[in-house]
Amino acid sequence: MSREPISRRRALGLATVGAAAVVGGVAGWATGVGAPGGRLQPGPAAQPFAEPEVLAARDGVLDVQLTAAAGAQLAGRQTSALGFNNASPGPTLRVHPGELLRVRLINQLDQPTNLHTHGLHVSPERNGDNPFVTVDPGASFDYAFRIPNTHPAGTFWYHPHHHGFVANQIFGGLAGALLIDGGPDLPVDRERVLLITDTTLNSSGQVIPAGPMEKMMGREGELVLVNGQHQPAVQAAYGASERWRVINGCVSRVLSLRIEDHRLTHVAADGYFLPAPVDRDRVVLSPGNRADVVVRPAAVGDYKLITDPHDRGSPGMGGMGSTSRGPITLATLSVSGPPERAVRLPSTLPAPPAPPGPVVRQRALTFAMGMGMGMGMGEMAFTIDGRAFDPQRVDQTVRLGTTEEWLVSNISPMEHSFHLHVWPFQVIEDSTGTPPDAALQDVVRLPARGWVRLRIHFADFPGRSVYHCHTLDHEDAGMMATIQVDR
Ligand code: C2O
Ligand code: CU
Ligand code: CU
Repeated sequence: MSREPISRRRALGLATVGAAAVVGGVAGWATGVGAPGGRLQPGPAAQPFAEPEVLAARDGVLDVQLTAAAGAQLAGRQTSALGFNNASPGPTLRVHPGELLRVRLINQLDQPTNLHTHGLHVSPERNGDNPFVTVDPGASFDYAFRIPNTHPAGTFWYHPHHHGFVANQIFGGLAGALLIDGGPDLPVDRERVLLITDTTLNSSGQVIPAGPMEKMMGREGELVLVNGQHQPAVQAAYGASERWRVINGCVSRVLSLRIEDHRLTHVAADGYFLPAPVDRDRVVLSPGNRADVVVRPAAVGDYKLITDPHDRGSPGMGGMGSTSRGPITLATLSVSGPPERAVRLPSTLPAPPAPPGPVVRQRALTFAMGMGMGMGMGEMAFTIDGRAFDPQRVDQTVRLGTTEEWLVSNISPMEHSFHLHVWPFQVIEDSTGTPPDAALQDVVRLPARGWVRLRIHFADFPGRSVYHCHTLDHEDAGMMATIQVDR
């Protein structure tokens, strides 16, 4: 495994703070301040919640230009974090089934990048959702994503996907929401997008790079932001119903979300409706996962939106380990006004049908991490079926139109996740015995020393794409493989 080239570090304008300063990374601002190198003091909390600019299709087409460059505002401060069109997150893109999304990606970083439409069921070929595209520094690339007429309406997102650079670029700030509109709509009073990201910024507003240990764990930023904001205040009306489209855009952090004194009505996972609304105390999202929840402010007052620690285990090396430490406040739900009449949600939702039978093929995949041959100190090999990612190799060949069952095992002491591009899957069961709730999804947690069993219908879109761990430091380290779907 090669060392990170120096140019990558320079390209991001990353601060050269010793790894030690970040290995003991703390999950909260109070303790982060005063750490070696110092930390950016975020702007004041409780600023009005804001959403990224919305760009919507007209006459069947959405044409956008996205320029990836340093210099975005984050946490109410001017920083040298990365943005699309100077914003982190980038604009929210809204299209309907049957429409065409065209993106001109302009790379003003000085490292390669590209663009992935996470969760979209679109072609992976040519200038579609093709993770093998390289857009060199200073270059641009014209993507075209044709959204099928039958595409479900829901919450998706976009982010860079150039192998080796994904974690740094998302940690740097490059991500945006991508919504497929066109209902069936829920009878809610309003909806919001909450794209949650994490990063760590030094006192001059530069993104602090992850050290080797952090990469091994999967880095968690000290600052957890909602739409780039630090602890904004969401003003909501008592009794009203709000649909929150929550996206976990963090590089490695699992979000375990709750709102004080409230329950969350879970209606959709990864862009697909659940069979019925489910009231939950919390919703857990792996990096890449989305949840649509209906929030019904239950009384006048202020309630925190919190993410609680989630233990992803440890690589088992000399006590290194545990990830997030304490609860982190992401935002405040600020409820006022006389009670509004609550809308009634339907008792069932238009979940997609399960992948149709017969299952024509079963596969077994193994995610592993370990000290590889010839690895330097602290260099962990991250593999799927014993191999690190090779874009030239084809790891699975699948027949278009068929349904398969994949048993994905994790023989490591850390939690990973399984993500497949283009073709969503149904989780049949997992080693923890937790009954699956989503109809279809595109990222699933892979318990430490555990497994998940999935059913995947390769309904359409021949071509070549990838599956990987969505702990993006692991993906960059090699925990990714290719799939070729043939007619
Ligand atoms: Cu959001 Cu290949 O990933
Ligand atoms: Cu993806
Ligand atoms: Cu992983």
